[in-house]
Amino acid sequence: MTQGMRKGLTSYGDPDFSLFLRKAFVKAMGLSDDALNRPLVGIANTFSDYNACHGNVPKLVEAIKRGVMLAGGLPMEFPTISIHESFAHPTSMFLRNLMAMDTEEMIRAQPMDSVVLIGGCDKTIPAQMMAAASADVPTILIPVGPMLVGNYQGEQLGACTDCRRLWSDFRGGRIGAGEIEAINERLAPTAGTCMVMGTASTMACLVEAMGLALPGSASIPATHADRLRCAEATGKEAVALATAQAPCATALMTPASFRNAMVVLQALGGSTNGLIHLTAAAGRCGIKLDLAEFDRLGREVPVLVDLKPSGDHYMEHFHWAGAMPRLLRELGDFLDLDAPTVTGGTLRDYADGAEMVKGQTVIRPRSAPISPRGSMAVLHGNLAPRGAIIKQSAASAALMTHTGRAVVFESVEDLTLRIDDPALDVTAADVLVLRNAGPIGAPGMPEAGYLPIPRKLATQGVKDMVRISDARMSGTAFGTIVLHITPEAAAGGPLALVRNGDSISLDVPNGRIELLVEPAVLDRRRADLATTPASGPAPAPERGYAALFHRSVLQADEGCDFDFLVPGHESRT
Ligand code: FES
Repeated sequence: MTQGMRKGLTSYGDPDFSLFLRKAFVKAMGLSDDALNRPLVGIANTFSDYNACHGNVPKLVEAIKRGVMLAGGLPMEFPTISIHESFAHPTSMFLRNLMAMDTEEMIRAQPMDSVVLIGGCDKTIPAQMMAAASADVPTILIPVGPMLVGNYQGEQLGACTDCRRLWSDFRGGRIGAGEIEAINERLAPTAGTCMVMGTASTMACLVEAMGLALPGSASIPATHADRLRCAEATGKEAVALATAQAPCATALMTPASFRNAMVVLQALGGSTNGLIHLTAAAGRCGIKLDLAEFDRLGREVPVLVDLKPSGDHYMEHFHWAGAMPRLLRELGDFLDLDAPTVTGGTLRDYADGAEMVKGQTVIRPRSAPISPRGSMAVLHGNLAPRGAIIKQSAASAALMTHTGRAVVFESVEDLTLRIDDPALDVTAADVLVLRNAGPIGAPGMPEAGYLPIPRKLATQGVKDMVRISDARMSGTAFGTIVLHITPEAAAGGPLALVRNGDSISLDVPNGRIELLVEPAVLDRRRADLATTPASGPAPAPERGYAALFHRSVLQADEGCDFDFLVPGHESRT
């Protein structure tokens, strides 16, 4: 197989001239033939001034390069898109597939014998997994690592579960403007990703569980020296991958490793977004994740990790309790420990290497779980023919079986305009419904599924209600919230047929979500909708990436990837 600088030559009709020209330009950087004859390790640099979570990336790149050179390779750093949750309009999910395409094409276009992908903030690792599967060169991921915790008035604080809790307290009048400003300074005290078990932490843990990253790499704090040593070791491993004719990424992204990831997702109390991202990455490998299997695992695999938002602690506590290797060891026979890893060994090696920390309570034994069931349950019913999901580990036990009156919002904009209207006809027993917030309708399926409690109820002390939507929710959020209703309203899903005052039944133990309206009435409403289209969905964009997105994005049960990027998938248009 062609290696090094000879890989993927630019086409001028004369390969020797192409190599001659390439070397002439690369030598402009002062590189010698000795350097150019070494194994080439690409390093995807995702630093951006718009991405504070990736603030440590320059240091990580330096350490990875050191590791590559110590092992006799030549590091070649290159930039890709970087996405931060709070700096991406309309939502970071809208850009995930663009980052996946950018990363895939840059890996494919440029000569590299292996690649190190530095990911972190929520959508970056998913985009890189998708890219790695499609480009399919030997790949190792390294997360940027989580932030350290913040402190305020003797209480530990973390982005962004506590952002939401304290903002709710502010909305409910329980804390004042001065205090919320002071808290704002403390919630994200260092570089690194959100330090709760949000989407970033979840995805970092999942890539480690799939053997795509080194053991322990998910949770070393972003600012600790160990993180740099991990980066150096990652660089060394990348050279081993480049020289040993090592397996490409898809050799590690197998049905067994995706099933392992689903087990870990349930045990972590992980983010609901993790399921969409795993589905998308699996789709790139021609693997269909089975929602029924995921639901079954949710009934068998307990939540073992005591981290917010399902529990009490933060990522640095998880790390010092033994991190992913300890969790893998506790999960034991739920997992396929013979699954291969990027080190050339198996997942069993990761588990066997776990630090057994005496007296720790963050990673529970199976005999004393946080919750006997996994973090998520899958729902079906006439409201969600292709499924919906609820994070049961972060929901209110009293609302897991509930029937209430629908209070409908047509779109995220409608929600914003009316949720705090004192005249809104709503009680704590109602079910808040948000539609046209899915992949096509919003567009980009924003994290709007965490509908705020209407102010007039928040000030009365109401902290949770049943909320349902075709949107996503931040992994850091909590509440009795049904998400990813599929198909979405804008794609003709029955969520579009709900009217104010309808009864909606949620039955999590039996996996059901139903609109209690006669089928004949729903048929009439569907016919009405065909003649008078709803006002909620965003209009179809006419140009650019937005038009491509609108035309090609798949539903949540297919990972919201683009149809033309999934092998064997038919185009929607
Ligand atoms: Fe980047 Fe939370 S905002 S991980």
